[in-house]
Amino acid sequence: MQSDDEYPVITIDGPAGSGKGTIGQALAIRLGWNFLDSGALYRACAYVAERNSISLTQASEMEAHLRDMDFTSIPAPPGSEAKVLLNGEDISEQIRTPQIAQLASKFAAKQSVRDALLYVQREYHRCPGLVADGRDMGSVVFPDGKLKIFLSASLKTRAQRKYIQLKNQGNCVNFDAIYENIASRDRRDSGRKHSPLIMPQGAMEIDSSDLSVDGVLYLILEKLKSVLNEERPI
Ligand code: DC
Repeated sequence: MQSDDEYPVITIDGPAGSGKGTIGQALAIRLGWNFLDSGALYRACAYVAERNSISLTQASEMEAHLRDMDFTSIPAPPGSEAKVLLNGEDISEQIRTPQIAQLASKFAAKQSVRDALLYVQREYHRCPGLVADGRDMGSVVFPDGKLKIFLSASLKTRAQRKYIQLKNQGNCVNFDAIYENIASRDRRDSGRKHSPLIMPQGAMEIDSSDLSVDGVLYLILEKLKSVLNEERPI
């Protein structure tokens, strides 16, 4: 891993639907930095497991598949999802289903899967900098990150956002089912033994419930200026 002073890392952690994907991508585009959508990486893992008929009880068998996987997340402007490539194949749509989200959350609770993906994630720390979003970016994967953000929003707000997003993508959606899907992932992501979702030490908490994307970006960029303490414009 490069030294964080050389190539700074901004970590954005938070629960499902808190807006960290939208904010992380907008920030990466604005700064011209690399972008790691670690949630998409766990979704890609679930996708690989499904395709190879690997069940949760065989999670340790995933290691071989995961260590060699060529994973790329390309940031998109607000309103669009990051493009995700797995070994060159565009799997952006296939990994965005509620079923893959649930399976990803279950595989993410397995230590062998987390260990295999740690290396893949740290490979993203490259010039000129990295914006990494997920659940354990600031606490486990990049504990020395220059700026750590914990993005939150009420469960109702997060379910409403997801409902609108899926509806706009042409899906037939049920609000109560989405609300329960997010609530159950919250319980699993926060209650699991390995790398649970927590507020990382030294993180700046932003409640995005009543803020626009630009409002959240403004707060982060102002904070970034003060932590980088540099003359160069950002
Ligand atoms: O952010 P997302 O909804 O795309 O994440 C999918 C699942 O992956 C989520 O339920 C928890 C898991 N995850 C994780 O455990 N650690 C991360 N750093 C990112 C995601």
